[in-house]
Amino acid sequence: MNIHMTIFGGTGDLCSRKLMPALYNLYIREELSDSSSIIAIGRRDYTDEQYIDLIKPWVHQFARLGRDLSKFDSFAKLIHYYRMDFTDPSSYKDLEALEQHCCVSSVHLVYLAVAPQYFRTIAENYAKLSTATDSRILLEKPFGETLEDARLLNTSLEQSFGSDHIFRIDHYLGKEMVRSMLDIRRTNPIFANAWNKDFIQAVEISAMEEVGVETRGGYYDQAGAVKDMVQNHLMQIMTILALDQPDQPSIREQQIEIMHSLRKVDPKEIQNQMVLGQYEGYRNEQKVDPKSTTETFAALRLYLDHPRWQGVPFLLRTGKKCKERFSEAAILFKPANEHTAPDVLRIRIQPTEEIHLEFNVKNPGDQAGLQSVQLSFCQSCNDIFHQNTPEAYERMLLACANNDSSWFTSFEAIETSWSYIQQLKDAYRSSNLPVYPYPQNENGPREADRLLEPFSSHWL
Ligand SMILES: NC(=O)c1ccc[n+]([C@@H]2O[C@H](COP(=O)([O-])OP(=O)(O)OC[C@H]3O[C@@H](n4cnc5c(N)ncnc54)[C@H](OP(=O)(O)O)[C@@H]3O)[C@@H](O)[C@H]2O)c1
Repeated sequence: MNIHMTIFGGTGDLCSRKLMPALYNLYIREELSDSSSIIAIGRRDYTDEQYIDLIKPWVHQFARLGRDLSKFDSFAKLIHYYRMDFTDPSSYKDLEALEQHCCVSSVHLVYLAVAPQYFRTIAENYAKLSTATDSRILLEKPFGETLEDARLLNTSLEQSFGSDHIFRIDHYLGKEMVRSMLDIRRTNPIFANAWNKDFIQAVEISAMEEVGVETRGGYYDQAGAVKDMVQNHLMQIMTILALDQPDQPSIREQQIEIMHSLRKVDPKEIQNQMVLGQYEGYRNEQKVDPKSTTETFAALRLYLDHPRWQGVPFLLRTGKKCKERFSEAAILFKPANEHTAPDVLRIRIQPTEEIHLEFNVKNPGDQAGLQSVQLSFCQSCNDIFHQNTPEAYERMLLACANNDSSWFTSFEAIETSWSYIQQLKDAYRSSNLPVYPYPQNENGPREADRLLEPFSSHWL
């Protein structure tokens, strides 16, 4: 396919680690033709050659098909570096001229790989160019800094580009195991028939990180774990797991229906719904307020007022500086009786892609009793599977080029989850609940265990 891609933030981390490697993979797969073009925009003073030298090692390190760079030189011919200050309206005219000169394309993607406070400035300036006609704009969380801000941003983008041309990325929706969840439910009667309140006692979703805020302290201190992780990624996974008809194409609509069924926040019960924590040493991180009360850990116990899920808690947790890095969904089935362990289906999303089923068998020989054993499948451990599994950004860029919006987030979903999260945060703040400190290398503060009971023994 002939694709022209304009990347604002061409010298940033997202572009180097994710976008360029994804574009290289698409080139190797011949999804990106030799008549395609990529304009990478930054403020630094590079020639095309210098920029290409800069990104080559990133492609080698991060592209799944980047071990062999024999086609890198022909890929590099698609790339142009363009220096501009995107806050300066006068610099867009030359960009338009470059795009008219170098870019013959059937599909035009514009990626905003920049800090969110620039989304509107760029969109409004870029929309005035003749080359903006029919372009599709891609952007990622955080979508606004508050609900009000998200609405303003959305109005501005829709006025500039039209609602069908906006592709809001939640890259978790491009992850292999998140996609697999629907197929696991759809095609395996052993799970499909038991996927409800009669057989499931809890659903657990975790996204734990070993790292702290690193260089992103300025952004993170304004956002916190709830807005950075829960409001988007964890909510997406929860709604994928909970939606009613995994075999129907209306996935986005069903996800929104699940969000609308979230039990209303009761400010008097907030201590039983959410616990926030902050890792020790966070206030000494670069660009973090030394008196910050921003949470770096959040645990939530949510219920859905939905016939399939009445009474089943959805336990969500995410944190930085935790024991281990992993993202996972675990389905805890009801035990056969009080003497047996529950079956558990674990779907590991990252860093490896795995599925484990824990179930009971008889103890060997003449020993009395049962033991819980595990059946395991590791998709990413198999080199051939791994090589053939597109990474999230590769998948999302191709879906956008194909005008397939089904795996992108609708504004209604963003608005609904923003509004729910805001109610939770407001209730927490007005109840004067603390943000509990926790030691580094722990999975959050002890106070969160109370919220997760009686299932906390099944957390990893
Ligand atoms: N990094 C990730 O893995 C990741 C993951 C998910 C979401 N995101 C989101 O993606 C966005 C980008 O993140 P990032 O980590 O790539 O940020 P970053 O490393 O700070 O990069 C920012 C980019 O913006 C450019 N820039 C800033 N001000 C500019 C100006 N006035 N004119 C022209 N260029 C300017 C910078 O160019 P210079 O070379 O001039 O500095 C750089 O290319 C953010 O919204 C972030 O939340 C990132």
